[in-house]
Amino acid sequence: MKRLVGGAALLVAVAIGGAYLNPYNIYDAAAEAGKSYVGSKACASCHEEEYENFIKYSKKAHSFHSVQLMRKQLTSSELKECFHCHTTGYGKPGGFISEKQTPDLKNLGCETCHGPGSAHVDSEDASDILGKVDKDSCKACHNTDRVRAFRYKPMLYAGAH
Ligand code: HEC
Ligand code: HEC
Ligand code: HEC
Ligand code: HEC
Repeated sequence: MKRLVGGAALLVAVAIGGAYLNPYNIYDAAAEAGKSYVGSKACASCHEEEYENFIKYSKKAHSFHSVQLMRKQLTSSELKECFHCHTTGYGKPGGFISEKQTPDLKNLGCETCHGPGSAHVDSEDASDILGKVDKDSCKACHNTDRVRAFRYKPMLYAGAH
């Protein structure tokens, strides 16, 4: 319930704050609650099936490679722009910093959709993680500029598990 209230408050904040808010920071509320990112491997032991499916079939699991392919043509500030959408939690507390410092966060992972998982990994409590994933969380990266005719509904499970 707390989570839902937080989400609603965030949406209102986004509606009001508009341009002032970093559009990529969709999980600010969770971050404020002291949660940080742990990487997909940390989920594998308890959610084996989701993990296996994700690693095998989702392009998200290889998203850093896509950036690396173009690395040579990019300035370092252009490269940092890519990290917002191609890594886990870049620019957020406990998120991706660099390939060396945070290797487990270099690809997009479970926490891209479910939010930072540190508290949940410790507690194993469902209320510490986002269970319901809504389309607003996709829009942060799959915006109209970048993805023409991205259809949320039929695609909800695509890119996941
Ligand atoms: C933090 C940014 C980000 C968010 C949030 C995000 N995606 Fe993605 N998604 C990507 C990127 C980047 C790729 C491409 C990865 C690559 O190929 O390098 C991708 C790829 C995909 C693909 C391509 C096919 C595949 O198997 O991976 C689908 C489908 C997809 N995402 C669906 C979703 C849905 C549905 C949501 C919301 C529930 C979502 N994404 C949220 C960044 C994001
Ligand atoms: C606003 C979010 C966003 C940013 C910023 C972003 N990407 Fe992406 N990227 C995506 C999404 C979403 C996809 C998958 C859907 C698509 O093909 O448009 C993708 C797909 C790709 C692919 C194609 C992967 C494939 O398998 O076809 C490459 C390569 C790529 N991005 C490289 C980059 C590079 C390099 C940068 C920085 C210069 C960058 N992206 C910045 C969201 C983003
Ligand atoms: C592209 C977004 C996305 C990614 C990435 C993602 N999930 Fe999910 N996950 C979802 C959606 C959507 C649901 C269904 C939620 C609902 O029913 O509203 C879900 C549901 C779940 C559930 C509840 C049980 C179930 O399977 O329905 C678990 C557990 C779960 N995910 C774990 C993971 C783990 C572990 C990873 C990484 C290996 C992961 N997820 C990556 C979108 C994602
Ligand atoms: C030590 C075991 C453990 C680890 C590690 C773990 N989980 Fe869970 N997870 C659980 C348990 C137990 C539940 C509750 C299952 C239930 O109630 O049916 C759960 C439930 C969930 C749900 C469903 C939440 C809901 O509202 O229904 C999601 C999504 C999820 N986990 C994602 C993750 C992600 C992402 C990670 C890695 C960051 C992760 N889990 C790591 C044990 C774990």
